[in-house]
Amino acid sequence: MYAIIDTYLQTINQKGLLRTLDINTGIDFASNDFLGLSKHPQLIKACQNASIKYGVGSGASRLVSAESLLFKNVENKLANFANQESALLFSTGYMTNLGVISSLAKIGAEFFIDKYCHASIYDGLKLGNATYQRYKHCDIKNLEKKIKKSASPLKIICSESIFSMDGDIAPIEKIINISKKYKALFLLDEAHAIGIYGEKGSGIAEELKLSNKIDIYIGTLGKAMGCAGGFVACKKSIRQLIINNARPFIYSTALPPMQLGVIEQAIKILNKLRPKAKQLLINAKLLRDTLNADTGKSQSHIIPVIIGEENKTIQIATKIQQQGFNVKAIRPPTVPPNTSRLRITIHTYNTITQINKLSSLINQYLS
Ligand SMILES: Cc1ncc(COP(=O)(O)O)c(C=O)c1O
Repeated sequence: MYAIIDTYLQTINQKGLLRTLDINTGIDFASNDFLGLSKHPQLIKACQNASIKYGVGSGASRLVSAESLLFKNVENKLANFANQESALLFSTGYMTNLGVISSLAKIGAEFFIDKYCHASIYDGLKLGNATYQRYKHCDIKNLEKKIKKSASPLKIICSESIFSMDGDIAPIEKIINISKKYKALFLLDEAHAIGIYGEKGSGIAEELKLSNKIDIYIGTLGKAMGCAGGFVACKKSIRQLIINNARPFIYSTALPPMQLGVIEQAIKILNKLRPKAKQLLINAKLLRDTLNADTGKSQSHIIPVIIGEENKTIQIATKIQQQGFNVKAIRPPTVPPNTSRLRITIHTYNTITQINKLSSLINQYLS
């Protein structure tokens, strides 16, 4: 019985694809806590205050019994943050994509997905048994070629603004033009841009002054916002559809009330962190400029160092970790075959000295 499991694990291990949970206390160049908010004293205080006032658990799904003014209040703030009519919270960003995409699939939407979209988007398609096509990464011509043949009355284009494993930025304005031309909705996942880009920190669409052209905005609160949770911001009718169709919303216990206190505080703090976010992008460029490595098309605080072969990538990551840095190897199926990489993320708490040291270590181990 167990032999099948053991054989499977041995096989993926031999291919350099075994994932393990290793404790790493090195300098953080791996997490998505870009602004260090997870340890911010005001967020910790907000968590304490909200848990004393409202408790630590929500008790049920919102449709069963957990609905409260707290949700309404935070969702109004998130809608305003994303420049949309309404918002709906989920327990994670992953569950948000699962819920939103499967809900729209259930009413017959056809999806057009950037090939490099996150697993949560693909899993949403699977959950909703969706009709979908993938277009080549950031390739507008390929998107148009596919969408122009569609007869679906509800077409939805899905893209991330900053791609999670490549750190490159989608051609958002061009996608908007295609969405208008073919009467499609545009779903934009700003998971990695939140907190870093835009005047309020809501992401790339805001930075480009195009947030009013996004139909469905997906955000996560577990990355630069420092806490946990996810949300969709959209028209009220879409929100209502999701409440009725989204299994991850209907059949799962709601976010704990203390988390809502933290989210509310995080939105307030983001505003004040604009200069730090700008500096973080300057520091990211410094790392890219000093690396003698293939960093793909990264333009952001997510920098891949593309090595290719799985075992070589692990060996280099291990050497860097032994020098006191937390840097992770990312391998297939998270990234395409032969593009294994170190995924480096820059944080406001990474110093220039640390960045320079990391850069020279990578250059040394790659040469
Ligand atoms: C683009 C994108 N969307 C959604 C998610 C899921 O968000 P969460 O970690 O809050 O579940 C991620 C996580 O890495 C992501 O990269």
